[in-house]
Amino acid sequence: MRIVYVIGTRPNFVKMAPVVAALRARLPDGRHSIVHTGQHYDHLMSDVFLEELGVPAPDHLLEVGSGSHAQQTAWTMERLEPVLNDERPDLVMVPGDVNSTLAATLTAVKMGIPVAHIESGLRSFDRTMPEEINRIVADEFSEHLFLHCSEALENLRAEGIAEERMHFVGNTMIDTLVALEDRFRAAGTAARLGVPKGGFMLVTLHRPALVDGPLLAETMHQLAALAREMPVVFPVHPRTRKMLEEVEAEHPGLLLSDPLGYLDFLSLLADAGAVLTDSGGIQEETTYLGIPCFTLRDNTERPVTIRAGTNTLLGLDPAAIAGIPAALAERPRQPPEPPPLWDGNAALRIADVVVEGAA
Ligand code: UD1
Repeated sequence: MRIVYVIGTRPNFVKMAPVVAALRARLPDGRHSIVHTGQHYDHLMSDVFLEELGVPAPDHLLEVGSGSHAQQTAWTMERLEPVLNDERPDLVMVPGDVNSTLAATLTAVKMGIPVAHIESGLRSFDRTMPEEINRIVADEFSEHLFLHCSEALENLRAEGIAEERMHFVGNTMIDTLVALEDRFRAAGTAARLGVPKGGFMLVTLHRPALVDGPLLAETMHQLAALAREMPVVFPVHPRTRKMLEEVEAEHPGLLLSDPLGYLDFLSLLADAGAVLTDSGGIQEETTYLGIPCFTLRDNTERPVTIRAGTNTLLGLDPAAIAGIPAALAERPRQPPEPPPLWDGNAALRIADVVVEGAA
């Protein structure tokens, strides 16, 4: 069996790493080719991550880089097509909801190659989010849909997608976390940064709706105020870094850093008193770890994290940051209760489906 795995961004690597490992183990005589589209290309956003996750060096680098949505999608399609022509895979696997996911799905399906979508069925019901468009297209055209929560099942049913295409397998991002838990628990990143375990706020923000406009300056202002009550650690995504350079603001008391590797980031996440984010994956990782998470968005495609009690939607409203200390004081910390099948074995279940011929 020949499988092509298409990855492009930091969260893609985390979601795909255990799937590649599980399928290589189950199909040692198969051909397993990794295509890195190059959507994320900075050393800290890409190489460091792949190394730490133990992903083999990609077989094909498309070096697409940054551009408008149309450019990024078109360049990926144009460069992926000859690779798929050479590889002639039986299956193309794509994770998540980024532009690489959309482009790879369209390219493969038009060549008559079946696609398997990992993390299928999530919906924010907000079509102004580029990721929502990417999810809908990937789900519509993928033959095999791998789901990680019950609402994904409901969302796909509501769109009239046939049951036999859906496989509820669990969360491969949590597989990666579980596999590296001993290592990140021993990393001691909070101590290295000089912030107290359980007593600091970890921040990540990168979505265009928040960082590409005036809300960014207001957010930084609110974070500086919060930093008077507890240390604030903020590893800055390149997109946000670029926008911050245009915001002429001081950031007193904030510990800003370059993007961190996976082990350092998870070490901080596990030791944080609370997390403020607009990321999708971090809402899930905090749910697994039982860390209070505040999401600076109007909606989430991951309501399972709200039901679990760890995630709170603040709205796309930086002023709401001021209410976080009171919210934390009111809410006693609960032991983590991971959602069903967030158990470290999702990729093994995906491999079972693929190998046993359902895919
Ligand atoms: C992308 C995904 C988003 C995901 C995020 C995770 C889409 C539409 N968005 O957003 O869903 O949550 O990745 O990080 O696919 N840049 C660099 N170096 C890099 C990568 C990006 O400097 O390695 C800068 C460039 O200036 C680029 C900007 O960041 O223009 C945005 O990168 P892009 O890939 O368009 O989207 P992300 O914001 O990273």
